[in-house]
Amino acid sequence: MKALFLAGGLGTRLKPITNELPKPMVPIMGKPLLERNIKNLKKHGIDEVILSTCYKPQKIREYFEDGSKFGVKISYICEDIPLGTGGAVKNAQEFFDDTFLVFNSDIISDINISEIIRFHKEKGALATIAATEVDNPSAYGVIEQDEKGFITAFKEKPLPHETNSNLINAGIYVFEPDLFNEIPAGRVVSIERETFPLLLEKGYKIAVYNKCSYWLDLGTPEKYMKAHKDILNGKLKIDSHNFNTKPKFISETAKIHQRARIVGPVYIGENVEIGDYAMVGPNTVLCEGSYVGMGAKVVGSIVWNQAVVESGASVINSVVMSKCRVDRNSRKYNAILTINAVYSNAV
Ligand code: GDD
Ligand code: MG
Repeated sequence: MKALFLAGGLGTRLKPITNELPKPMVPIMGKPLLERNIKNLKKHGIDEVILSTCYKPQKIREYFEDGSKFGVKISYICEDIPLGTGGAVKNAQEFFDDTFLVFNSDIISDINISEIIRFHKEKGALATIAATEVDNPSAYGVIEQDEKGFITAFKEKPLPHETNSNLINAGIYVFEPDLFNEIPAGRVVSIERETFPLLLEKGYKIAVYNKCSYWLDLGTPEKYMKAHKDILNGKLKIDSHNFNTKPKFISETAKIHQRARIVGPVYIGENVEIGDYAMVGPNTVLCEGSYVGMGAKVVGSIVWNQAVVESGASVINSVVMSKCRVDRNSRKYNAILTINAVYSNAV
């Protein structure tokens, strides 16, 4: 089976993190979200992936190339103008002649891919939509269903009075190729606003799969921080480390000076260096090759690859992006530091 990632969005709400990076390339514990999602597919035997790109496509292509480094085959589609979610699916038609998967690229979840595929086949539906419950459904695609688990209404970003369901589209789908007959070619189409309501009107079956125990979309800087906090607190398991039983992950290649204080939960990646009297954690991620100088304090923060926190600086509840340098003795609180600027109160 093949999978399509919708990876062309502008990531506007995640700015300034997405000023230089498309959303699928935003790192989670030091590795692009898309890499984590592709690896999850590979675990379930899916090794052919199509990436539908538009915003900063070269950043995605340079990293993943043909996919062989990740054990999968990757093909690319690049839109000159954004075609919308449905337009992007239609544009990928030539790749699919059997049941296929589609993913929004800004989702982190513990979905069991083999199980949703099995579920879809059992239901005999044209489409299966993964769903989850949230407190504020107005920011999402809201689903209403019947007692058999088939969708009766799909309302994209409804006003609060327009629905009383809090079940939302999780942005993960299994489709049959007949879907392509229902999406017009050559124009912008929203699968959520146009295609799903049309399918329901025409009487097609759309099944609801509501079995993720963890789901988060990385729509905003706050959610980006939350994803890390949840991983560090054992709510979502990624890679092989279990933060529930061992709240400190410290790479063997990290160099931590004797009088530094490390407070879990914390992740300290490869070749990180932490100076004497520095304090790191709790709820902190130091990615590969980052450096925390003598007496510096990094709390509740995510420090990307090769970033530097100089001696005596404090970084609290902030994101320090790759190769940034936090000046000696300076203080950053709720900030996002990019290579060109510091955005205060951004988190
Ligand atoms: N190729 C391509 N072209 N991809 C696109 C385009 C486009 O024109 N527009 C958006 N995408 C991609 C985005 O990169 C993202 O991965 C996905 O499609 C969804 O777009 P978002 O911009 O993130 O939509 P949203 O978050 O407002 O809402 C969507 O996700 C919610 C779950 O997080 C909808 O699918 C909602 O129904 C859903 O609840
Ligand atoms: Mg989104």
